[in-house]
Amino acid sequence: MSDLKIVRTIPELRATVTAWRRDGQTVALVPTMGALHEAHMTLMQEARSRADRVVATIFVNPTQFAENEDLSTYPRREAKDIERLQQDEIDLLFAPDVSEIYPDGFATSVTVKGVSEGLCGDHRPGHFAGVATVVTKLLLQTLPDVALFGEKDFQQLQVIKSLTRDLDIPVKIIGVPTVREPDGLAMSSRNTHLSADERILAPVLHQILTEAAIKISAGDDIQQVCSAAVIGLREAGFAPVEYFEVRDAATLAVPEQNSGPKQSLRILTAAWLGATRLIDNIAIA
Ligand code: PAJ
Repeated sequence: MSDLKIVRTIPELRATVTAWRRDGQTVALVPTMGALHEAHMTLMQEARSRADRVVATIFVNPTQFAENEDLSTYPRREAKDIERLQQDEIDLLFAPDVSEIYPDGFATSVTVKGVSEGLCGDHRPGHFAGVATVVTKLLLQTLPDVALFGEKDFQQLQVIKSLTRDLDIPVKIIGVPTVREPDGLAMSSRNTHLSADERILAPVLHQILTEAAIKISAGDDIQQVCSAAVIGLREAGFAPVEYFEVRDAATLAVPEQNSGPKQSLRILTAAWLGATRLIDNIAIA
């Protein structure tokens, strides 16, 4: 158990980090929306291995939820989260109120072109501007040496890498591989919304992604593989399947035909199981 310090204001966060820096210590940041699970804790452990001090943030960011989305039902369990952070020897939790991050008169939004477009960007209007805005603020509030984000949210990771580069924010962004349940389902706070039957079906998303990646790396036609995968997902009970697409892993651009073995490709997908939206992605080896 550590002495987890909990702060709710930006001046307290800054004062704590500044004192560490004065002592020559390095700082890692792990932003989250709480309801912490094993994947979040993997990010924290990775952070621990890369810096002297680890700052976790818990903030259910309203600007990244569209009107019709699950802001009000998003799981919130701060007391349990604090216990987990203590067990994992996290140094500081920044858990601000909405008014601390978005005070009256707040009027700025960070928009990242290109990588925010298509995929989740098409299905969640405004989502990536909300993510980009809050992550920019958290990075500038903390000024860490490194910040860690999961590859599970692969498009989000590329958006954050882009904004950091474009805005000259002096932080190294580290992508952490997707942490999965033993049956392959990517861990997510939203998995708790799945019914027992849906939970049994959910790993099919990862199975179909894995099969598609094997076929594409063996040379099968990308369009045919993706169309068959969408049919397979629908037959398994996913509806709607929002997208199942192959993209360049760095730019998220649609790959050139016959782009050759040098281009690094990724399959990304989003599909609904009942009332739960699942996303996942996989590298094509
Ligand atoms: P949240 O969904 O709480 O996720 C916090 C971090 O954990 C993100 O970097 C996410 O990619 C990572 N993560 C979640 N599930 C993961 C898994 N199964 N494997 C690996 N990493 C995983 O993502 C957000 O919050 C927000 O958009 C945020 C970046 C905090 C901005 O509000």
